[in-house]
Amino acid sequence: MKNQLSTKIKNSNVLLTGATGGMGKAFSQLLFDNGANLVLIGRDGHKLHELKAELLTSNINATNKIEIFAVDLVDSAQRQALIAYLATLALDINLLINNAGISQLSLLVQTTESEINRIISTNTIAPMQLTQALLPTLLKQTSAQIINIGSTFGSIGFPGYSAYCASKFALRGFSQTLSRELADTNVTVKYLSPRATKTNLISEKIEQLNTALNTATDLPADVAMELLMLIEQNKTERYIGWPEKLFVRINALFPSLVSKSIVKQLPIIQKFARDS
Ligand SMILES: NC(=O)c1ccc[n+]([C@@H]2O[C@H](COP(=O)([O-])OP(=O)(O)OC[C@H]3O[C@@H](n4cnc5c(N)ncnc54)[C@H](OP(=O)(O)O)[C@@H]3O)[C@@H](O)[C@H]2O)c1
Repeated sequence: MKNQLSTKIKNSNVLLTGATGGMGKAFSQLLFDNGANLVLIGRDGHKLHELKAELLTSNINATNKIEIFAVDLVDSAQRQALIAYLATLALDINLLINNAGISQLSLLVQTTESEINRIISTNTIAPMQLTQALLPTLLKQTSAQIINIGSTFGSIGFPGYSAYCASKFALRGFSQTLSRELADTNVTVKYLSPRATKTNLISEKIEQLNTALNTATDLPADVAMELLMLIEQNKTERYIGWPEKLFVRINALFPSLVSKSIVKQLPIIQKFARDS
């Protein structure tokens, strides 16, 4: 698989946000194994150092580079510090992966104003602003990609996740718009839509709800393979999971059908969302 898929990744210069999370670690490993130079971003410097050490130990003969930078992407001054740091590296980023994200299970009536702000700022506004700041660099490359990590909940409104769904619907809209806006440039914009995946984003309550609803859960390594396929392919979107990708299509065409099926699950969702 490594040899089959690595053509666009080998020697590419990747900026990966959310690198210290469940998906981010799996993405880092696969990108590193396929010869990419990595700039890994997270908020926690200690976790970033550990991740870098793990990657280097996993392949002591690798010649590709790993840089790390701790930054809260919601903070404008810290984002600017990141851009200034990138300018000091001898690496022109040609693959930006906007992966950092947060989630929360709660009914809107219980969600605080600051929680709504935090989710929309992290999942939507920060990736838009980071993309905007990096665009001049990306446009200078022979070829570049921006990949936004969305969610099934970026296509299907699901009770208990109003702020998260709103943030990911907006991220999908951003991806589609920017993909069209940059269609005559060397920069391709893509959107990856994972379904539930076993990471720390899934709190105990979310895990219990997923079990009660029989929601299938992927492993981060599976999502990493889907990311590699998206990087390689010419399509701009990739939806993970069956039947999730079918529901996404039905929801776009006949939302009332999907509403009927989700509303049947409402009492279970309310129970877990209220308890969280
Ligand atoms: N897990 C799922 O079920 C699932 C399903 C669909 C989509 N997704 C999406 O997949 C992406 C990765 O999620 P995950 O499951 O890997 O989550 P995770 O394990 O909780 O990791 C989240 C990552 O985002 C970083 N992060 C959060 N807020 C940040 C901020 N303000 N500034 C900089 N970094 C920040 C965290 O950094 P620190 O470690 O430093 O805090 C961490 O590296 C997210 O966009 C998520 O919405 C996840």
